[in-house]
Amino acid sequence: MQTKISSLLSVVESFTANSVHEVEEFRVKMFGKKGDLTLLFDEFKQVPGEVKRELGQKINELKSKAQSRISELKQAFDIADAPTFALDASRPGSADKLGTRHPIASVRSEILAIFRQLGFAVAEGPEIEDDRHVFGALNFPPEHPARDMQDTFFIEKSANGENPILLRTHTSSIQVRVMEKQQPPIRIVCPGRVFRNEAISARAHCMFHQVEGLYVDQNVSFADLKQTLLYFAKELFGANVEIRLRPSFFPFTEPSAEMDVSCSICGGKGCNICKGTGWLEVGGCGMVDPNVLDSCKIDSKTYGGFAFGMGVERIAMLKYQARDLRLYFENDVRFLRQFTAAM
Ligand code: PHE
Repeated sequence: MQTKISSLLSVVESFTANSVHEVEEFRVKMFGKKGDLTLLFDEFKQVPGEVKRELGQKINELKSKAQSRISELKQAFDIADAPTFALDASRPGSADKLGTRHPIASVRSEILAIFRQLGFAVAEGPEIEDDRHVFGALNFPPEHPARDMQDTFFIEKSANGENPILLRTHTSSIQVRVMEKQQPPIRIVCPGRVFRNEAISARAHCMFHQVEGLYVDQNVSFADLKQTLLYFAKELFGANVEIRLRPSFFPFTEPSAEMDVSCSICGGKGCNICKGTGWLEVGGCGMVDPNVLDSCKIDSKTYGGFAFGMGVERIAMLKYQARDLRLYFENDVRFLRQFTAAM
């Protein structure tokens, strides 16, 4: 028994392995059911009393040497097998890929930032609206053809059939909501998605984004409107642009106008973006119709105001000269990645 112990001890001490697998084999060879050490312990039970103590110590020593040899080797292989970056704490991490801002989102915030400088606050409202906020309070008579003109998506008739639920066709509905709750002075810009029942093409979509503005106070004049829009156009398109207001019609403004800016691409000389006219149409505007103020319980004898509205996609198209509106909605990363600088 004594010799068995010392020969096993030298086996343990000289054991080396080339793989974790070999270490495991060694463990079984020692501690398995028929392992050398297991058998030795069985044999030990038979040993007479007087040598038990001495031999017992030796066997236990052998056992713990074998165990520590095995775990030592296992650990060495564990570390060697681990991916190397777990070892190299100084290695730089791989950076997360940053996405880019959607061009519509960055044009939207650019527009809002300009109006914020002028003291306009941002107001938002629901996309699912009722007839009153989209048409009724904005001076559209019940059978007004403009209601068709806007090609509305209707969602639900109301119980009495009077105030149907629909998708807003413009963000002027937010202006109504603000005027219902707040007395002048009011100075807000209203960004948001709007919906119109139009066939999708390069120039039209059934969903797009608008930013509309509203200013209500005492002694507001058309000159204030013009100056606000001129400041906006110069900030957005450059100091050299000019604006032009053409007479137009909206039920909620009187007088009303279409706003054009001089084409910043050809400098007003005429190119294929402005179709040779030197002017680009960006939105509508006008002085708030007194009926609108009255229907929102603002005294139209004391207060007056101006309003304007523009399409964000339209401005993005002019800024980036991407001619097909659909590109902005398809989320093709090859298109979107081109806007890395536009934050
Ligand atoms: N609401 C109009 C539209 O959607 C734009 C507009 C806003 C016109 C305010 C005049 C004044 O077309």
